[in-house]
Amino acid sequence: MPSVLPLTHQSIEEAAAALRAGNLAVFPTETVYGLGANATDDLAVAKIYEAKNRPSFNPLIVHFPDIESVRKMADMAPQVEQLAAHFWPGAISFVLPRKPDCPLSKLVSSGLPTFAARVPALESAQCLLRAAGIPVAAPSANSSGRISPTQAAHVADDLGNKIPIILDGGPCTVGVESTVIDLTKKVPTILRPGGVTQEEIEAVLQQSVAVASSNETSPESPGMLLSHYAPSLPVRLNATSSNTREAYLGFGDTAGAKINLSAGGDLTEAAANLFAYLNKLDDPQWSGIAVAPIPEEGLGRAINDRLRRAAAPRR
Ligand code: TXA
Ligand code: MG
Repeated sequence: MPSVLPLTHQSIEEAAAALRAGNLAVFPTETVYGLGANATDDLAVAKIYEAKNRPSFNPLIVHFPDIESVRKMADMAPQVEQLAAHFWPGAISFVLPRKPDCPLSKLVSSGLPTFAARVPALESAQCLLRAAGIPVAAPSANSSGRISPTQAAHVADDLGNKIPIILDGGPCTVGVESTVIDLTKKVPTILRPGGVTQEEIEAVLQQSVAVASSNETSPESPGMLLSHYAPSLPVRLNATSSNTREAYLGFGDTAGAKINLSAGGDLTEAAANLFAYLNKLDDPQWSGIAVAPIPEEGLGRAINDRLRRAAAPRR
């Protein structure tokens, strides 16, 4: 059984220690409850996808206690500074370019050159983030296909047996997820409507913003927005052997692999390594990347979904 803990100094310290140790912890924000993990640790982030039983990898929102900690990892355009000054801490997340030395897991970005950042307003969330001392990746704390939880009891019913610590902060006051806005585009684009409205954003920017059509970005079609991302080399799937000019990415007992996603056949470890290893093998010294078969079960479904996108004909 999970521990559903009332918010105290001690329970927050306990959750912070779990996060630092690479484990999952659920915590309240003013929007919805988040399923948190150390955003700089690939394996910890992979545990999020495993617990949510997600059939694909979507980039996740990374939570920070204050704007200074975000600036260390992202390039902040003037418009972002302007919106952050107005709405942070609060129910809005910004898609930002990763700095070259950004320590965040590539899995958090699903391999994209950007990540989404949020500074939540709820005081207990800020205390937790400060106590943890690491950026915390957190999607809504529900299993894939279920609605976002706004009470600790929802989380315990749905994910309870998978999460050791659930901090109970009572019902969330906003109750819908944060607005996600991408300011890396020419026209600022709302990718997901949420707690901060389009009108409020336009009033601050003194400019109209675009709203992405739902079939590109909605949670119902996760990963669609990633279709433009792929390694530069062609990718060949279900390869039981490789030719000499290909870089061979193994899984399990693959013979002749350049690197192995998980020699022991562990899908969580493989998910944690996926983007970093694709990146490593994406080198012009090879003619292509051959990938060993990955079982279509558990996290393997998300890994294969991502690999099929990487192998799809390029636009
Ligand atoms: O209110 C919230 O935002 C909650 C609480 C826990 O903070 N979190 C949440 O996170 O809903 P998540 O991971 O479920 O939602 C992430 C959304 C997805 O729609 C995803 O596609 C988008 O943000 N997103 C994240 N990183 C992105 C990126 N680099 N580029 C484009 N979209 C991104
Ligand atoms: Mg969600």
